[in-house]
Amino acid sequence: MRTSSLRLQLLAWVVLPLAGLATINLWTSHRSALATADLVTDRMLLGSARAIAERVAMSDGVLDATIPPAAIEMFDTGDHDSVYYRVETANGRLLTGYPDLPAIQGGPGIAPVYRDNRLRMLAFSHPVVGAGDDSPISVTVGVTLAGHDAMVRRLWFGAFTQQLALVAIAGLFVLLGLHRGLVPLIRLRDAVRSPNRNDLDPVEVRGAQNEIRPLIDALNAYMERVRAQMASQRRFIANAAHQLRTPLALLSTQASYALRETGPEARHEALVALQASSGRLARLAEQLLTLSRAEPGSRRPRADHIDLTEAARQVLETHTPVAIGRNIDLGLEEVGPVPVVGDGTMLREMIVNLVDNALRHTPSGGSVTVTLASGGDEAVLTVADNGPGIPEEERDHVFERFYSIAGSTEDGSGLGLAIVREVVESARGRVTLADSAAGGLLVEVRLPLARS
Ligand SMILES: Nc1ncnc2c1ncn2[C@@H]1O[C@H](COP(=O)(O)OP(=O)(O)OP(=O)(O)O)[C@@H](O)[C@H]1O
Ligand SMILES: [Mg+2]
Repeated sequence: MRTSSLRLQLLAWVVLPLAGLATINLWTSHRSALATADLVTDRMLLGSARAIAERVAMSDGVLDATIPPAAIEMFDTGDHDSVYYRVETANGRLLTGYPDLPAIQGGPGIAPVYRDNRLRMLAFSHPVVGAGDDSPISVTVGVTLAGHDAMVRRLWFGAFTQQLALVAIAGLFVLLGLHRGLVPLIRLRDAVRSPNRNDLDPVEVRGAQNEIRPLIDALNAYMERVRAQMASQRRFIANAAHQLRTPLALLSTQASYALRETGPEARHEALVALQASSGRLARLAEQLLTLSRAEPGSRRPRADHIDLTEAARQVLETHTPVAIGRNIDLGLEEVGPVPVVGDGTMLREMIVNLVDNALRHTPSGGSVTVTLASGGDEAVLTVADNGPGIPEEERDHVFERFYSIAGSTEDGSGLGLAIVREVVESARGRVTLADSAAGGLLVEVRLPLARS
C-alpha cells in the first residue's frame, strides 16, 4: 500500500520494523522466562527432595521416613500447586508417598500426566547410614505447574509491557519530530499563500533545514524567472501598443484629409496614401501575431518534415512581383531538397522576413540571392543582398524586438529579425549576420538536418 502522508510513511518505517524486532524480542524473552521458571522450580524440587531424604534414618532397626512439613510448604506460593512425593529403598520398597507416582530417570523434567495434571519432577538418591541393602534410598518429588506457569507469565508480561511501551514511545517521538521537522514546510506554504505578499516576491523561511532549503531556492529562482518573463511581456505589449498608435493616428489624419479634398485627383492621392498606411498597419499586426506564435511555449511545438528548398521557392515566387517592380534580380541557388524538422508555417515566415528585408534594403538594379545547401548534419540557408549591410556594432541589436537602426529610411516595425531568431532557435538552429560578397548583408541560418 502506498500512502501519500509523510507522517504515516515515516511512522510505518519506524514503528513496523520496531514492532517486528519487539516480536522477536518477545519470543526470546518468553524462552528465557521459561528457562528461569524451570531453574527455580528445579531448585525447589531439589531442596524439597533433599529435605525429605535427610530425614530418613534408622530408628529401632527400621527405616523411618517422616516428611518434614517445610519440604511441602516451600511450594505454597499461592498458586494452589499440588506436591507429590515417594520415598523408596534401593531395591524399590515403598517407604512413604504415592505408589503410582510415575518414575523419572535422572535429572529434572516433565512427567506424563498424573492425576489430570502435568508435573515437573525430580529424583534424588541419598545414602542412609546403617540401612544396609536399602541404602541409598530414592526420593522422587513432583509438583504441578501452576506456580511455574504463573512465574513465566509474570516474567514475560514485564518484558511484554516494556516492549509495547518502547514501540509506542518511539512512534510518539517520530510524530513529534516530524511535526517539528515539518514546521518550515508549513511556513513555506503559508508564505506562498499569504495574501499580503506581493506576487512572485522571493519567500524567506526561517529555520528551514538543509533538505528543504534547495526547494525554497528553486521556488525563488522559478518565481524570479516568471517575473522576468512577465516584465518582458509587459514591455512587449507596451511597445506593441505604442507601435500601433502611430500608424493609426496617421490613418485617421489621412482619412480626414481625403474627406476634406474636393478635387477627384487630390482625393484619389489621399486615398492611395491611406491604403498604403493601412497596408503597413496590417503588416505590423501580422508581424505581432507571428511573433507571439513563434514565442516558446505559445503553442505546441510542431515537428513537420519540410523541405527548406521548396519553402524558399514558394516564398521567392510570391516576392517576384515586388522584385520585378524594383528591378532587383531575385535568385535561388539550390542543389536539391534540404529536409528539416520544425513548424512549417514558422519556417516559411522566417524566410519571408529575410527576403523582405533584403528586397527593401537593396537599391534598384541590385540583386538578392537565396542559397540552400546541406553541410554535414546541418541545413544552411543564406540570403545575400547588395544593399548597405548592417554595421558590426548594430548586429547584436537588430535581433531585438522593435529595434530599427537609427536613420533607417525603411518604415518597418523592427520585428522581422526578432521573428527570425525566435523561429530559428525554436528549431534548435542559429542565425548569424555577415558581409556578403557583393558588399551587402549576408544572413546565414543553420538548422539541424532531418534524418530520414
Ligand atoms: N538586408 C538588410 N540590409 C540592411 N539592413 C537591414 C537588413 N535587414 C535588416 N536590416 C536592418 O535591421 C533592422 C531590423 O530589421 P527587422 O527586419 O527586424 O525590422 P524591420 O525590417 O525594420 O521591420 P519588419 O521586418 O518588422 O517590418 C532594420 O531597421 C534594418 O535597418
Ligand atoms: Mg524586416
